Amino acid sequence: MTPIKWFMTFLKKYTKLIFVGILLTTLIAVLSIVNPYISGVIVDDVIRGRNYDLLPRLLACLLTVTLLNGIFRFLYQLVFETASQGTLYDMRSKVYRKLLEEDFAFYNKKRTGDLMSRQTGDMDAIRHFVAYVIYVVYQNVLLFIFALLMVFTVNAKLALCMLVVLPFTAFTTYRQAKEVKPAFQRNRNCFSSLNAFVQENVSGNRVVKAFAKEDYEKEKFEVENDKFRDAQINASKVWMKYVPLFEILSNALTIVLMLYGGYMVIQEEITLGDLVKVNGYLWMLNMPLRMAGWWVNDIQNFLTSVEKIYATYSEEPKIHAPRTGGIHEKLRGDVEFKDVCYRADDEDIVNNINFSVKAGQTVGIIGSTGSGKSTLMNLLCRFYDTTSGQVLVDGRDVRDMDLYNLRDNIGMAMQDVFLFSDTIEGNIAYGRPDCSFEEVKHAAIMADANHFINALPDGYDTIVGERGVGLSGGQKQRISLARALLKDPSILILDDTTSAVDMETESYIQSQLKTIQNSCTIFIIAYRISSIKDADLILVMDNGCIIEQGTHESLLARDGYYAKAFRNQYGEIPYDLLSEKQNRRQSKGGE
Ligand SMILES: Nc1ncnc2c1ncn2[C@@H]1O[C@H](COP(=O)(O)OP(=O)(O)OP(=O)(O)O)[C@@H](O)[C@H]1O
Ligand SMILES: [Mg+2]
Repeated sequence: MTPIKWFMTFLKKYTKLIFVGILLTTLIAVLSIVNPYISGVIVDDVIRGRNYDLLPRLLACLLTVTLLNGIFRFLYQLVFETASQGTLYDMRSKVYRKLLEEDFAFYNKKRTGDLMSRQTGDMDAIRHFVAYVIYVVYQNVLLFIFALLMVFTVNAKLALCMLVVLPFTAFTTYRQAKEVKPAFQRNRNCFSSLNAFVQENVSGNRVVKAFAKEDYEKEKFEVENDKFRDAQINASKVWMKYVPLFEILSNALTIVLMLYGGYMVIQEEITLGDLVKVNGYLWMLNMPLRMAGWWVNDIQNFLTSVEKIYATYSEEPKIHAPRTGGIHEKLRGDVEFKDVCYRADDEDIVNNINFSVKAGQTVGIIGSTGSGKSTLMNLLCRFYDTTSGQVLVDGRDVRDMDLYNLRDNIGMAMQDVFLFSDTIEGNIAYGRPDCSFEEVKHAAIMADANHFINALPDGYDTIVGERGVGLSGGQKQRISLARALLKDPSILILDDTTSAVDMETESYIQSQLKTIQNSCTIFIIAYRISSIKDADLILVMDNGCIIEQGTHESLLARDGYYAKAFRNQYGEIPYDLLSEKQNRRQSKGGE
């Protein structure tokens, strides 16, 4: 499908409305030829022919036409505005829905600011086209044709003379369109880039401040700002060159009329009234000539925007989901990875992964940074598809499962915690917005978040996220954990979720996790041995491969990577110290 065909699918819904608009526009064009005609008759018949009886009827006619013109103008603007807003509404929703469907690979490569420009600046160019450009171009083409026909009825020679200007205008418009397109595209690209830059800097302002890089960022901004300004100036240079040309061409018509028309009046080839008539049509001939360049710009603008939006829209997610329509099936939670490999950008990310766990078991994953731990979980959630091998949940390949049902059964506390600009309660209940407050609180207690939430001035109603209060890293992790727990998932994934909490809190959380252990398969990714040592299966990852797997005891006995990490972290500390702390915590009741 071409971008324009795609755009037409949205406009189709408003065909009737646009048809009415076009009809009204046509009526206006027809009415516009009446007044100059009457003016000519007034000059010839009333003023020079002294037929004063005609005057009241002619004046009434003038008034009625003017009034109708006003009413029709109001109506067609209403019609086009409604059609444009409707088209835009549908388009925005469709593009937004598609953005939600896009996979991780799409977002990894796109800049947020660019995507924002698609939904704002580009959409507005489309609105402008539907609300204004369509009718204005159509109306002016009609006016031009009608006016020319009327001039022909007055005098063919005069009309032909005035037509001489047309090829020059057509040529100038063609040249201008050719020049304005690349200038305009550069303009839009620079705008998008400036937007993306500002968006990134606003989100990352803490890093900028922490590194005292304000001056550096200012310089980088200046570069973007300069590029945008230059692009704008280049585009306006095209205008500067062509606007005077269009002006000259449109004024040439007036000169032709005054010289040749005046000469014809003197030679009595036409009457003075005819000259007044043609003079009345002059603006209809002039307007398209003068405005052609602007409209070409608007049309280019529109085409570029449709192309850009469509390019984003038509990027198909690589994850094809056999969505079977609203299945809500509770999965058991058996997980098996069979010879799983995943490559991205010609690089092996994980290789030959084999392990299996039964529902209700806990899996600990440990390994060096960048070794592929998060990737394993991304494959389990189908954020990416395996390059080869299979990920099985309850014995079924995840690619054959309803994607939304699969994810609905997984509770994930991600490594990069993201909280929405909402209340804490809203954030925790994100996966189950209709749950009771008691359930939210229970999840918060399990995640050891209840204390600090209650200590906040507005408790669970405190707004967090972008426009909310600042929370510590550990507090955010605990809210994210509560959010995952509240889903009552069959598979719970905790990706580095307790890295920013103290050991005591961590062991409390572990004890809480034990209470849901049997109903839920738990994956814990951590650097601390203490986080995973009680797991039924521990996977040790390095460089995309599982280098060791087994229980804590078996891995210690193996005396490999895990045993070394254990000795590094614990030294001589007896590790039943932890369970002692844990018991203390539990006796406090967790609140
Ligand atoms: N979609 C992708 N495209 C390209 N590279 C990727 C992709 N996903 C992951 N990687 C790369 O794969 C490697 C493993 O990443 P992953 O996030 O799984 O590591 P990790 O073990 O979770 O690390 P950490 O402990 O630091 O969180 C990294 O080098 C990362 O850059
Ligand atoms: Mg990770």
